[in-house]
Amino acid sequence: MKNGALHYNTRRYVNSAIHKQESGLKKYIYNYVNFIKKFVRPGSKVLDVACGPGLSSHLLSKNYKVTGIDMSKGMVAYARKKFKDVDFRVDDAHGLSFPDESFDAVVACTFIEHINDVGAVLDEMLRVTKRNGHVIIVSPNWFSPLRPIRGIISPKGYEAMGKNRLRITIWLFKSIYYTFQKLINPKFVFQNPDIENEELVGNDVDMVYIANQYDLGRYFRKKGCKVLKLSADTFRFSSIPPIAPWLGVVAKKS
Ligand SMILES: C[S@@+](CC[C@H](N)C(=O)[O-])C[C@H]1O[C@@H](n2cnc3c(N)ncnc32)[C@H](O)[C@@H]1O
Repeated sequence: MKNGALHYNTRRYVNSAIHKQESGLKKYIYNYVNFIKKFVRPGSKVLDVACGPGLSSHLLSKNYKVTGIDMSKGMVAYARKKFKDVDFRVDDAHGLSFPDESFDAVVACTFIEHINDVGAVLDEMLRVTKRNGHVIIVSPNWFSPLRPIRGIISPKGYEAMGKNRLRITIWLFKSIYYTFQKLINPKFVFQNPDIENEELVGNDVDMVYIANQYDLGRYFRKKGCKVLKLSADTFRFSSIPPIAPWLGVVAKKS
């Protein structure tokens, strides 16, 4: 992709994230903040990784001492201007500029699916977390069959998959396959990003890692953590981990 097109799409991405935040379309951020409150004690030091335009960090700062980091200068500049109660910094999650064990909780929302070196980022998140502290990852579970089913039922299609019924139906079969396959053999699965797609850019079709609670959970267990939770959903059967549309992986560092 030419540099010009990359910058153009990056700007659109930043603008779209800010627009969604401004127009109150980020309900999932409130769910994310409420989810964190279930595990992290008030007054704790929290690092909000890939905080984007800053709303989650701002909401968290009502209960915690929050630092928000993002590698996008545009996002951080916007967040700093908008929310004065948080320490926002430009930083890369692959190599965080904090000493070991700096935070009681290290949290991230709709971020991990944009990373191709998932293990390196999880290691960094764990490194800056104190012993007995928490790493919490909340993201869409694209393998949940409930997502394509919603896309098939809704006349508008699905926000991040468009309206093409064939595409959504293929995704449904894939999601059923992976829902079972992940239980037996959880390992990171990747796809090519689709960031040149004019219609869909800004949604998760630009993701590279198809985030899943079982492979994240297994990774944390391998690193000696206790995994307390896999799903961020609370609504009836959508809270059952294999099919939950939102993954919520809570790892306690030992
Ligand atoms: C989908 S946005 C989510 C932003 C915010 N968490 C939210 O939910 O509104 C993904 C964010 O990840 C950031 N990001 C991507 N790679 C990163 C990295 N290596 N280090 C830090 N931030 C990164 C992007 O700049 C972007 O703001």
